[in-house]
Amino acid sequence: MRIDDCLKQEMDKLTPSRVHDAMEYSLMIGGKRIRPNLLYAVGHGYGLSDEVLDPFAEALEMIHTYSLIHDDLPAMDNDDLRRGQPTNHRKFDEATAILAGDGLLTYAFTTAARSGAKAESVIRCIRILADMAGADGMVYGQCLDIEEKEHTWEEVKTIHRYKTGCLLSAPLMIPAVLAERSEEEVAKWNEIGFTIGLAFQIQDDVLDTQLSAEEFGKSNSDSRNHKSTSIVLLGEDNAVSKMNELYDLGKEAIRSFKGFDEEEVLALIDQVQTRRK
Ligand code: IPE
Ligand code: IPE
Ligand code: MG
Ligand code: MG
Ligand code: MG
Repeated sequence: MRIDDCLKQEMDKLTPSRVHDAMEYSLMIGGKRIRPNLLYAVGHGYGLSDEVLDPFAEALEMIHTYSLIHDDLPAMDNDDLRRGQPTNHRKFDEATAILAGDGLLTYAFTTAARSGAKAESVIRCIRILADMAGADGMVYGQCLDIEEKEHTWEEVKTIHRYKTGCLLSAPLMIPAVLAERSEEEVAKWNEIGFTIGLAFQIQDDVLDTQLSAEEFGKSNSDSRNHKSTSIVLLGEDNAVSKMNELYDLGKEAIRSFKGFDEEEVLALIDQVQTRRK
């Protein structure tokens, strides 16, 4: 996959160290690469080249991988298996896993800043990455998620929107910025990311109960951690219907753009919607 080669090349630019090994370990052991693939698919729909999209696809996968390393830490979900392999702190140690996350988060911005696209667009894309990852984005969602209380479905929707939706909005918004589309169009992609993100996290909750750790490639920690998931609040059948309804809503909104070829991104969302891992 193009994104794998790009990430490897980026990692090779760093000085060898234990933290470098830990960053590369989590980045390269697998992962579905859904966020970079969404970014390429939307970019292609706008007629953008892979070369223009690469730095942002890489940055996004680095930020996502950092979020997973920290999410698995004993102080958070305390998981042992990720992407079919021992979690970062199990393979290395907790301190190294914290640093590997820090290293990936910051290197994402180095990578994005290396983009040769128009400076104004690059700054806008970096701002989107930072906003979607930060304390009003994914980090806010994770903060709500670790509260030790029973959440209502309304609260869980907010948690899912932030912890998962934000990092799914970024790959949809960034190509629209690079294609110099209006703020209104970028905002529309932001909403679509939240819709698909909610669907994606409901699906993650469903698969967490349906699949074994080996099949899912990660340990099933939701019930051990007493998480208020979509399954707990809606029941499995309603959760699955809700998920399909949201994916369909997202696809319908994508079909409404003018001057955008939606074929590739719709095919990718269909693949994600029917995923079994
Ligand atoms: C896992 O994301 C975290 C969630 C937001 C549910 P992915 O299911 O995309 O994980 P990888 O990248 O394939 O490991
Ligand atoms: C985490 O949600 C989303 C992140 C921001 C990492 P989960 O805790 O459900 O993700 P998994 O199931 O560990 O991948
Ligand atoms: Mg979590
Ligand atoms: Mg987790
Ligand atoms: Mg999960």
